[in-house]
Amino acid sequence: MNIKKAVIPVAGWGTRSLPATKNVPKEMLPIFRKPIVQYIVEEGIDAGLTDVVFVTNQNKTIIEDHFDRNFLLEQLLARAGKADMLEEVRRVANMVNVIAVRQKEQLGLGHAVLTAKEICKNEPFAVMLGDDLMFGRDTGIGELIKAAEATGKAVVGVIEVPEEKVSKYGVIAGEELPDGSYKVTSLVEKPAIEDAPSNLAIIGRYVLLPEIFDILEGQKAGVGGEIQLTDALQGLADQDKLIAVKLGGQRFDAGDWVEYLTANIYFALHDEELRDELIQRLKELLPCSE
Ligand code: G1P
Repeated sequence: MNIKKAVIPVAGWGTRSLPATKNVPKEMLPIFRKPIVQYIVEEGIDAGLTDVVFVTNQNKTIIEDHFDRNFLLEQLLARAGKADMLEEVRRVANMVNVIAVRQKEQLGLGHAVLTAKEICKNEPFAVMLGDDLMFGRDTGIGELIKAAEATGKAVVGVIEVPEEKVSKYGVIAGEELPDGSYKVTSLVEKPAIEDAPSNLAIIGRYVLLPEIFDILEGQKAGVGGEIQLTDALQGLADQDKLIAVKLGGQRFDAGDWVEYLTANIYFALHDEELRDELIQRLKELLPCSE
């Protein structure tokens, strides 16, 4: 299985992050030194992906621009002798091939994926959601790609979440396999606690095969009146064509302010130059610190 493309839906409004996202796409909000979307793209590149397909809208073109050359800026950095920054800016511009398709109506995640059909119709592909930031070794889309290649099946990434949080996610029921992955038997999008089949929640990482497009084309709107990817995946589960892999490492929900801020601090604490000063300032701010 040769997986090269990551579909990254970016047409959503980011209402959880307003007013910060009134005119700046939520994917462009910075976490430490980089916009959120760059972390997602780099995770894909680390897993061997070479192309990203942004499912986008007319207000989000700066996401594509971020992964393009900016000659004015490059000239300015060259003239100012800022060689390191120039190299970094060029690295970002050249890191990935960018394809953009317009999602003309916001009809749900399933619809966003279907919008990429003409680009991905003959190949398996990854789907990566910008709200879920995954860090650490052996985590993220690379793990799902390995599982898809080993089994020839579609794969969803899951994590265990506390019971009271299941209603924020798609939730799976499955049979654990000897290698620790799950054969998915059913999925429910945003279930009430009492209806959740488990506490294994789908996080925004998927590897899908072109067969998903046929299912999505016939998919009716589900929870929230949206065409849900989770509902379409049930069609695969019914044919024993879907597995789930539990992902480890750190995960941050970038649309949640506490998580977003924690992610910023997490990265700053890993930066040698900033670490000590940041800890000192945080201590000063915390009322109960010594
Ligand atoms: C989407 C999916 C959901 C999944 C979640 C992960 O929901 O529909 O199944 O659990 O992403 O972040 P959203 O958060 O876009 O409402």
